[in-house]
Amino acid sequence: MEGIEGAGKSTHVWHLVADLSAHGIDVVATREPGGTLAAEAVRTLILSDAVDAWLPMSEALLHYAARRDHVDRLIAPALAAGRWVVCDRFADSTMAYQGYGQQLGTETVARLHALVLGELQPDLTLILDLDVDVGLDRVRRRSPLSDRYERMDPRFHRRVRAGFLEIAHNDPDRCHVIDAGAPPDAVKAAVRQAVRQRLRVELAE
Ligand code: TMP
Repeated sequence: MEGIEGAGKSTHVWHLVADLSAHGIDVVATREPGGTLAAEAVRTLILSDAVDAWLPMSEALLHYAARRDHVDRLIAPALAAGRWVVCDRFADSTMAYQGYGQQLGTETVARLHALVLGELQPDLTLILDLDVDVGLDRVRRRSPLSDRYERMDPRFHRRVRAGFLEIAHNDPDRCHVIDAGAPPDAVKAAVRQAVRQRLRVELAE
């Protein structure tokens, strides 16, 4: 599940996990950056401190260091055991935030991905799309204590949003864009519908 700040990813990860579990699917919910002890430590490094604490390449390397640990210790073993994995953010976030937002470039991030994870990609990526100002407003209402990314310039967040839409446009077989500005129940239904169609699983209403 991907998207800009305030798009509602975490909420919809939990709805989806509840739906899949009710359908008898053995599912693990996790998040990035994080998901394992080491990757959560990297999360703390990346999300605290000053906006300019990391240069784009260092930051992308940190995200990929965390991701490799997360894949090796949690995601790959879960998949090998036949479980489903629903992840709140994954590699498209590095492409959108560091590749497009911090302007590291798409080619560099793609090469980093190939080096660290080879061809590993999610079977389905849901991109919750939302107006940047609406998203940032939601985040600020939720908590006045913002993290490093939330404090970044709205222009940065506009590049991130455009990045996600371009990723989806370039990979329509894997990505599905959902209007996260719709009422929560409509977003929930759209997530369910996409999972039903794309992953061929019958989820009850
Ligand atoms: P979140 O848990 O609220 O989504 O916060 C994670 C933040 O980290 C969010 O602002 C997006 C950012 N991020 C990146 O910049 N690159 C990445 O690869 C990932 C996974 C997250």
